Amino acid sequence: MNWRKLRTVVLTVLALCLIPATRYYQIDVPLLRFLQGPRHVDPLLLHLSGEFVENNLGTEQEPNGSVTVRMIAQQYLFVPHCILVPAGVPVHLRITSADAVHSLTFDGTDYAVKVLPGTISEARLEFPRPGEYKMPCREFCGAGHYAMRSELKVVPRDQFPALRPQERGSCATQ
Ligand code: CUA
Repeated sequence: MNWRKLRTVVLTVLALCLIPATRYYQIDVPLLRFLQGPRHVDPLLLHLSGEFVENNLGTEQEPNGSVTVRMIAQQYLFVPHCILVPAGVPVHLRITSADAVHSLTFDGTDYAVKVLPGTISEARLEFPRPGEYKMPCREFCGAGHYAMRSELKVVPRDQFPALRPQERGSCATQ
């Protein structure tokens, strides 16, 4: 074997090793890190266990006065269908998707939260004044996309703590 052939063989072997190595470091490692990270949730188990079980969805008051809202986006609705928050209070939104990619938006504001299956999207929102906001989905997510909308009701700040926990999560009782 002459040197030129040997060099070609060595370079070919190196190039072939580089492909799986690149794949491993550029794709597998970040993916595994993502899947094992704290924001990972299994879309198939949302309703069965963990943070996004049904009775844990909706608005929860935190000891520091802020509120946390937990929601699920699924074809073709946001759960809970109607959200209640106090005015002028930081709202910490935690939302995940049970299926496709959705985008939760609030008409009349610039807020837009991309929602993906497998991970928890977080956002800090604040609504200064009481009022009602439509919450349409702005990411095409299938046949029912254009009907995918929920509602947010912002109530006066002092009125909110007086509500019972089950009244806070959903506007249906209002
Ligand atoms: Cu969900 Cu469009």
